[in-house]
Amino acid sequence: MNPIKVIYSILAAGFLFAVLLGVIGLNYQETATETAGAEAGESGETSASSGGEPPAFMNQCMTCHGTDLAGQGSVPGLKQLDLSKEEIVDIVKNGTNAGMPGGLVPGKEDQVAEYLLSIQE
Ligand code: HEC
Repeated sequence: MNPIKVIYSILAAGFLFAVLLGVIGLNYQETATETAGAEAGESGETSASSGGEPPAFMNQCMTCHGTDLAGQGSVPGLKQLDLSKEEIVDIVKNGTNAGMPGGLVPGKEDQVAEYLLSIQE
């Protein structure tokens, strides 16, 4: 056989092998995910029960209010508010004199207020 053909067949064999491994790997992953899902269901663990990730516009609030928005240090949590939607919009727009900056999410105040009202505990 000429050497070029030998190299080609080695490359082809290697490629097939890689594809095969990929397929096996994918199947394995699927099985693993299914198993994990079944286990979580059985034990009643629902990691998704928190309603999923907060929208991106909440990122700026997390630096002060905590990644779970439950407050940290002297900054109050945002999950037990006793505020109306209008009051929240006002605070988010204008801030307060006690450390809450306004104007962080220009134009999104309504969405922020609605999101906060949706996560009240
Ligand atoms: C620089 C830190 C900081 C950031 C960033 C911040 N906050 Fe605040 N926030 C505070 C502090 C401090 C208070 C308490 C102020 C007060 O009592 O007047 C507060 C109070 C609030 C309150 C009133 C809570 C209550 O119980 O009266 C709301 C609502 C609020 N923040 C929403 C937000 C939202 C929404 C964002 C993101 C767009 C945000 N905050 C970003 C520091 C921050």
